[in-house]
Amino acid sequence: MRIQAEHLSYTYNPGSPFASAALKDVSLTVEEGEFFGIIGHTGSGKSTFVQHLNALLRVPTSLKKYHKKRKDPPSDTVLKVGEFDLTDKKTDFNALRSKVGMVMQYPEYQLFAETVFEDVAFGFKNFAPEKPTKEQVENAVRDALTIVGLDYEEVKEMSPFDLSGGQKRRVAIAGVIVTKPEILVLDEPAAGLDPLGKQEVMELLHRLHASWCRTIIIVSHDMDEIAENCTRVAVFSDGEVKYVLPPKELFTHAEELLALGLDVPLTAKVCLALKQYGIDLKCDFTTEDFLQKTLALAGKGGASA
Ligand SMILES: Nc1ncnc2c1ncn2[C@@H]1O[C@H](COP(=O)(O)OP(=O)(O)OP(=O)(O)O)[C@@H](O)[C@H]1O
Ligand SMILES: [Mg+2]
Repeated sequence: MRIQAEHLSYTYNPGSPFASAALKDVSLTVEEGEFFGIIGHTGSGKSTFVQHLNALLRVPTSLKKYHKKRKDPPSDTVLKVGEFDLTDKKTDFNALRSKVGMVMQYPEYQLFAETVFEDVAFGFKNFAPEKPTKEQVENAVRDALTIVGLDYEEVKEMSPFDLSGGQKRRVAIAGVIVTKPEILVLDEPAAGLDPLGKQEVMELLHRLHASWCRTIIIVSHDMDEIAENCTRVAVFSDGEVKYVLPPKELFTHAEELLALGLDVPLTAKVCLALKQYGIDLKCDFTTEDFLQKTLALAGKGGASA
């Protein structure tokens, strides 16, 4: 399923003194099969954008009618996820939500059940079109816990609160992917975890991308994570999309990104510094490529530089 947003705007508390324009005329397409990244400074609209993708936030339909009455209607908003038209209030939003899984920031805070099994099963029962049998629930929960890297027999009867931080995060992710959504959206999936926990979550996302979820979208503050993992990246700034590029093209704009108050991967910082000495590494900003090109340069007698 392809995601297509055109001229999408969103204001919190419209018409009140607290009105806050969080998205301003955003146009963005995510193709099926991508591992897509979204970056931007605090308050730039990243969460507001992704919450539209499974209709947690709705395109105001009254706005559509209002626009039609105007003599000079502004360009019409488009928001489509596959065949689902999210600007149409008759759309089957439950069906949409079974296809677009959303993992919010710090999802482990939303764990609530007495056992890990019950927590993951809740996600499944919630979206199953008909009442599933006990066996169907069990199979789905076992598969979901296994793919997130947990031992089903070991954790199923445990309280989620007795798990480590990284394990809790994985249980929370299991509760979303248990319906095998085609698109998986995660808001800061690795935030707050230790380096090993981060690595495990990223490995898990690649495992899911290769099997259950055709398209993955992550919101991240971590530029190294973006450079290492994403096919393309959108940069949000003050509710607008500034760039949509593959990381290896995006991080050639290191200076502009730093000026926007964003960090860039360590590799991009070093490349920028080397440029001042007339050395252009032409690397794709992944650690592996960076090391290869630096070592090749050193081998050619460029080590003094
Ligand atoms: N529930 C809300 N009510 C009012 N304003 C909000 C609400 N949520 C977000 N905003 C405002 O909308 C703008 C965009 O917020 P959003 O949460 O989408 O940014 P973000 O890029 O996800 O930020 P962060 O990196 O801090 O998570 C900000 O100005 C924010 O203050
Ligand atoms: Mg956010």
